[in-house]
Amino acid sequence: MRSDLAGLEPYSSPQRPARYRMNTNESPYEPSPAFRSELAGAISAVELNRYPDKDAHDLCEELSLHTAWPQEGISVANGSNEVLLHLCLAYAGTNRTVLTFEPTYSLHSLIPRMTGAEVVQLARDDIFEVDLDAAVTATRDLRPEIVMVCSPNNPTGVLEPLPSIEALLEEAPGIVIVDEAYSEFADPGDSARGLLEEHPNLVVTKTFSKAWQLAGARIGYALGHPALMEGLALVRLPYHLSALSQVTALVALRHADESMRLAAAVAEERDRIAIELQAMGVKTIPSHANFVLFEVDDPPGVWTRLLERDVLIRIYTGTPGLEHAVRVTAGRPHETEVFLAAMREILDE
Ligand SMILES: Cc1ncc(COP(=O)(O)O)c(C=O)c1O
Repeated sequence: MRSDLAGLEPYSSPQRPARYRMNTNESPYEPSPAFRSELAGAISAVELNRYPDKDAHDLCEELSLHTAWPQEGISVANGSNEVLLHLCLAYAGTNRTVLTFEPTYSLHSLIPRMTGAEVVQLARDDIFEVDLDAAVTATRDLRPEIVMVCSPNNPTGVLEPLPSIEALLEEAPGIVIVDEAYSEFADPGDSARGLLEEHPNLVVTKTFSKAWQLAGARIGYALGHPALMEGLALVRLPYHLSALSQVTALVALRHADESMRLAAAVAEERDRIAIELQAMGVKTIPSHANFVLFEVDDPPGVWTRLLERDVLIRIYTGTPGLEHAVRVTAGRPHETEVFLAAMREILDE
């Protein structure tokens, strides 16, 4: 094995059987019957004996309409994790540096390391925002090839203000990736999409896994300057995105209104969870995503007692900055009620 991989921990998220799975930020809603029957028709028309379109032309064309960004500036892959891998294969790698802001999504440091890059992890401030002065100084001093921003950030839900992203774009000698896996749960005006025209070093990544009820289908994409996307074509495997995934995303885009309505419903549950936890005296971090990070004295105890009540949430054993934090994914109204009732009982014990 490569010596630089020694000591790395593979991605892990504790899984247990539970009726209320509020731990991995998927949509609690399945695709509608209308979606399913349209998908069944689309799949039965796929020529499975043939390789898929390796450039996913039709999908990129529809994504171009959906995002109002040119097709040549779009690259699709098996989930936004693979999009991030492509970006790091093309722009990180050996003898290169990637800057992250912790705590954040653990793959933001793991994926660059998979490609042999060095990762410099700056700590966020005490309200989990990027410390802009420290970030700009580090960008100036370290000259990282990639600056990795997550907005809204996982696991905190904190949104990165656009002026901060612009400051990083001005300073960065390489590219700035803004991971917007959760942007559909935030105000559209807060998306970095609107900065793409002015900033050729910006890449915005998106996924169908969170707001689109399609975590199982594994589809994500990057928006960036066409010249940057050419680099990704060099590192993508031929025919990497199956014909089934491509048609699934195409059908999903035709049902975008329904997905966005459900995302808004989930965002309401997120706000209800935060308000009710605060009423119980629990400190919550203001979230713009589909989850709420909150603080408790004994995270393993709360996690276990929730599991005893059939509710699975996310815990961060050993993650610096998250010693007292747990994260709950917002779901259906009924799941909110079960979770809140369980929390009331646990806090009363
Ligand atoms: C911030 C962030 N980016 C990317 C991903 C990966 O999503 P995908 O399912 O698109 O690979 C996740 C999943 O949890 C995430 O939280």
